[in-house]
Amino acid sequence: AETHEHEFVVQAKPVNRLCNIHNSIIVNGQFPGPTLEVNNGDTLIVKVINKAQYNVTIHWHGVRQMRTGWADGPEFVTQCPIRPGGSFTYRFTISGQEGTLWWHAHSSWLRATVYGALIIHPREGAPYPFAKPKRETAILLGEWWDANPIDVVREATRTGGAPNVSDAYTINGQPGDLYKCSSNDTVIVPIDSGETNLLRVINAALNQPLFFTVANHKLTVVGADASYTKPFTTSVLMLGPGQTTDVLINGDQPPSRYYVAARAYQSAQNAPFDNTTTTAILEYKSAPRPATKGAQTKPVIPPLPAYNDTATVTAFSKSFRSPNPREVLVPKEVDESLFFTIGLGLNKCPPNFGASRCQGPNGTRFTASMNNVSFALPNNVSILQAYQQGIPGVFTTDFPANPPLKFDFTGNVSRSLWQPASGTKGYKLKYGSRVQVVLQDTSIFTPENHPIHLHGYDFYIIAEGFGNFNSKKDTAKFNLVDPPLRNTVAVPVNGWAVIRFVADNPGAWIMHCHLDVHINWGLAMVFLVDNGVGELQSIETPPEDLPLC
Ligand code: C2O
Repeated sequence: AETHEHEFVVQAKPVNRLCNIHNSIIVNGQFPGPTLEVNNGDTLIVKVINKAQYNVTIHWHGVRQMRTGWADGPEFVTQCPIRPGGSFTYRFTISGQEGTLWWHAHSSWLRATVYGALIIHPREGAPYPFAKPKRETAILLGEWWDANPIDVVREATRTGGAPNVSDAYTINGQPGDLYKCSSNDTVIVPIDSGETNLLRVINAALNQPLFFTVANHKLTVVGADASYTKPFTTSVLMLGPGQTTDVLINGDQPPSRYYVAARAYQSAQNAPFDNTTTTAILEYKSAPRPATKGAQTKPVIPPLPAYNDTATVTAFSKSFRSPNPREVLVPKEVDESLFFTIGLGLNKCPPNFGASRCQGPNGTRFTASMNNVSFALPNNVSILQAYQQGIPGVFTTDFPANPPLKFDFTGNVSRSLWQPASGTKGYKLKYGSRVQVVLQDTSIFTPENHPIHLHGYDFYIIAEGFGNFNSKKDTAKFNLVDPPLRNTVAVPVNGWAVIRFVADNPGAWIMHCHLDVHINWGLAMVFLVDNGVGELQSIETPPEDLPLC
């Protein structure tokens, strides 16, 4: 196994998008940031140098971080932020994971422009479980704001309203042909004619689940979130923010140029087609390049499902299976049976709330919660430090295992449940305990597809469905044979999902909605996992350069 050393300089640089030059916070002058490529078993050492005017941390999304929780990255959870002028070196080993992950800032909304791919090839000398692709391309779906994303979220937090939506969706940082001033920079995705090619699709968008398709080509899904899946063929993918999907694509069409396209699932607005679709060009290497722009035959934009096409999403998500039932380690019995509601809420406008009227619906402020606890980050020490050193007063461990009151998840519930209390609450898990979590959309205010991401773990998704989870009849739907292993589950809109994992990684691990605005509103909680020896000093001591608050 190898050790890869990298330096990430986080700094404002000019980025030209949608007819204007923006001073964007990016890494090493690149947008998207550098792609990291490793083999399963390799070690990464990444020194992050903060030359921006904002606090920053980097999270290695989906990396299990076995006993290296200090390198996980969410600010005020596993570390204090790297201050402007500061640096921190993340050290961790990839063990047992193969496929596509990514890295992103985990401070405010910096991840709008601070993100990149993390590609994990098989162990040195080991094969893929499918024919070796001739060519591999990472495809990062994103969202672009003309305004400074930090200002967008600050304004939303100040007023209590919903943040402004992005100005473009992007593929590898580029909006593509349908957006103004963008067509000269449309991304080219090369493939080889007559060969198998691998596309590693990542949804890095801040707040938007996205459909993804390639004109005239079938996509064979072979992996997701750095776990292999039993191959299945589809013409469209749906990825919630945080999720990745690896697909094989055969160069079996007449050599030419075809559109790659992505657009919104569950968009807040049903915007017209052309304004909400980002495109790239799939280009056959053997296709003659057109001499001039005008000479090329215009490729055709492929159809994508409608923004509310949940049936397509359900069929897609139910196609995921683990490839080898014999290697599936899903616990058959559980020690912890948890039930977490996830959803929005509306808080009353505080009487002394500045000059601005609250901008949420009917003069309220938006909020969000799990089990009616709206998660608040500490600001003077990280939760992991407080846990490891036994510092009192930073968090409490009374996060409820069940919803506080009888809930009806149709959204038609008592107004008291619309106003969650704020708190920094964790839930303790005994090392090695077998955990089941039912994640139930409350549909309060608005039903949504919430991409729920757990740090430090992969989990099996053993069931999903619509309406209220029914503990008597829905258990019959549990797949304990070949459920998919993921780090982010797109919980069905107006529905539920059930996940299982074994608490074998000591530390403080945040679980949150990967729609970034929902983190700001509190849709998060923290699992505290000891190492089986004792409460304190239950994990390794922190690295010497760990930023302090
Ligand atoms: Cu990809 Cu906590 O995040």
